[in-house]
Amino acid sequence: MTFRLCFPKINLSGAGALADVPAELVAHGCVKPLIVTDSTLTRLGVVQPLVDGLKAAGLTPAIYDGVVPNPTVIQVEAAFAIFQAEGCDSIVAVGGGSPIDTGKAVRILSANPGPITLYNGVGKVGKVGAFLIAVNTTAGTAAEVTSNAVITDPAAQVKMVIIDANIIPDVSVNDASMMLGIPAATTAATGMDALTHAIEAYVSLGHHVLTDFSALEAIRLIAAFLPRAVADGHDLEAREMMAYGQFIAGLAFNSAGLGYVHAMAHQPGAVKDLPHGVCNAILLPIVEAFNRPHAVARFARIAQAMGVDTAGLSEEAASLAAIAAIRDLSAKVGIPHGFGELGVTEADLPTFVAKAQKDPCAPGNPVPMNDDQVLALFREAM
Ligand SMILES: [Fe+2]
Repeated sequence: MTFRLCFPKINLSGAGALADVPAELVAHGCVKPLIVTDSTLTRLGVVQPLVDGLKAAGLTPAIYDGVVPNPTVIQVEAAFAIFQAEGCDSIVAVGGGSPIDTGKAVRILSANPGPITLYNGVGKVGKVGAFLIAVNTTAGTAAEVTSNAVITDPAAQVKMVIIDANIIPDVSVNDASMMLGIPAATTAATGMDALTHAIEAYVSLGHHVLTDFSALEAIRLIAAFLPRAVADGHDLEAREMMAYGQFIAGLAFNSAGLGYVHAMAHQPGAVKDLPHGVCNAILLPIVEAFNRPHAVARFARIAQAMGVDTAGLSEEAASLAAIAAIRDLSAKVGIPHGFGELGVTEADLPTFVAKAQKDPCAPGNPVPMNDDQVLALFREAM
């Protein structure tokens, strides 16, 4: 069996790493980058130091800051229109998953014919496209690491998932000093998303020795530092460790795959417009309690990574402690108890089940589930 491990070729990290971005563009011969971001980040002044740094290095950046949460074909086309009109030769995406996914889509259009809807699915991007730097401002989706872009097609009412190694950014940037102002609730939700990436990757059918070490270390870092980052957003050490934890969780799941937590979480997330991390956090202990008997040894190691003292415990008891530790962490960072309090009703569930079964994340789960099992888990998550 061969294994394909893929991630960005240059990864800049540490407080202040944003200042190293201009040199990467210069080294690659770029002169006119398009900054792809959202208006909140420009308004908060997060993007200005980048603009100043680029100009100081002799570059002439253009800006598109119209990205919205769950970006659509419309924002991709608007950003690409500026890329063309301004004669841009590179892209610097700044933000969480939405601006980075939009940047990946602009990269596709920079070298491949439109519309972007042609690239929905796996492995359809023929040419790599413009040099892409992804500056992550959350911790996190790990969009700066991955080969996925989620773009909504409003005409077809479809959330497209474009998956291709050709859209992995050339350079990822994780500068924790850009993450200090993230509100506590967002820190908790995005941190639990990262924990879900690490746990799903570690127990997935696609796991490999080349992804296990980063998945386990991500679990350790997130369990240790997420409560601190939530309690005090200006705790720079906690923010840095969360930035690294979510990054290495991304290294793991980008190549190992995910499972039913994501397959199910995508459904209430899309229909009720709920935060992705909250949906994952609600489902994580429920789905993993279902998976646990099929991966007892792995869940025992997850318990250890989460800081449980497993000395003297049987493997079975240690694996059960992992599920309890996930529930404890979720409660500690203030995740809602269930979907019922978020506007989901019993009537929504049959459609969620059908869509979860077709979700591209489902096949990675350590054990398959039938419709009745998925429905029972959704009910438990209410
Ligand atoms: Fe996720």
